[in-house]
Amino acid sequence: MDTNQDKKKVVLSGIRATGNLHLGNYYGALNKFVRMQDDYDCRFFIADLHALTTHPDPAMLHANVKSILAEYLAAGLDPEKNILYVQSDVPEISEMYLLMNMHAGIGELMRTASFKDKARKALGIAKPGAGADDDDIEKEIIGNNHNKSVNAGLLTYPTLMAVDILIHHADFVPVGKDQEQHLELTRRFGRRFNSFYKTDYFSEPVNFNFGGQAVKVPGLDGSGKMGKSEGNCIYLIDDEKTLRKKVMRAVTDQGPQEPNSTPTEPIQNLFTLMELVSDPSTLEHFKQAYADCSIRYGDLKKQLAEDILKVTLPIRERILDLRDNDEYLSKVVRRGAEQAREVAAKTLREVREIMGIRKF
Ligand code: ADP
Ligand code: TRP
Repeated sequence: MDTNQDKKKVVLSGIRATGNLHLGNYYGALNKFVRMQDDYDCRFFIADLHALTTHPDPAMLHANVKSILAEYLAAGLDPEKNILYVQSDVPEISEMYLLMNMHAGIGELMRTASFKDKARKALGIAKPGAGADDDDIEKEIIGNNHNKSVNAGLLTYPTLMAVDILIHHADFVPVGKDQEQHLELTRRFGRRFNSFYKTDYFSEPVNFNFGGQAVKVPGLDGSGKMGKSEGNCIYLIDDEKTLRKKVMRAVTDQGPQEPNSTPTEPIQNLFTLMELVSDPSTLEHFKQAYADCSIRYGDLKKQLAEDILKVTLPIRERILDLRDNDEYLSKVVRRGAEQAREVAAKTLREVREIMGIRKF
């Protein structure tokens, strides 16, 4: 294990290969990756194995991997400064996933929010409060006698994610707020491994937010987060017309009813987006206009669209340049896979040794 105090801290993160990246992915994850690459020993990957839990069309999976890679590079990730790789190119991860599953409890996995969410969707059960509670998920899964099923890969999603992180001995894992529970499980599995084998082999990785709070980028539909499955996204690849149209259609309300009222959720969401993309003075201007009831939502949206485009259009242009450059893209990930495999093979060797798996 490394004892060199001057060594840079290790950063590891990834995004599932499930479609184009949106502003939530950008501000929750990718933009943080880009800002960290000069100061840390960074490894970023594309989680194609994680994407399998929701059964992507085989014809689409590789295209999705390719587009995320192009988006990583277009947003500014430099393959000379980071290890960039595809998860499935590193078979050591899959083996360590098997080993780590021996230390993951079914109960804790079933209580994970992302599992409950996806299981509910697969089984067609309503959200708690809308007529169902957590017990219904368990009953449905165990007593399930119809065709709808929840696959075991979905249950062990956090084990695979923990392995992604632990195999690099990562210190920091820049992710959005929705991933913090997975990170907590990662720490727990590492601690459990350490205590079972009486070792201090794994340390405890944490999220990274430049000293601030984890970001949750809202959608344009008035409530909740921006997410691929929510259908409320602004994509980095959106062209100018599409993007403006989406922003102009964002849900609002009938306007502030009295001075200094607290903004309703849809309006707060627009302010939150503005906080990410606009000058502080622009945001202040519209907040003031809300407070004195002079705000015009049309103006707010126009300004917001303008400021989002300043961020996304240059990235879009680079994506379009990169995404068909197969030769360059494959060169990047072939090299990344070599580098990642070297790290992963060492950890796997050590983990096997600790667990007592020895060769004759
Ligand atoms: P999606 O929710 O659209 O399926 P992913 O789950 O693939 O996106 O997320 C990839 C990364 O982007 C994760 O680090 C996640 O925390 C972050 N992320 C996704 N949506 C948001 C959001 N609305 N706000 C902040 N971060 C987000
Ligand atoms: N679970 C993450 C998501 O849905 C993707 C992911 C897989 C990941 N393995 C990871 C993120 C390891 C950070 C570190 O976005």
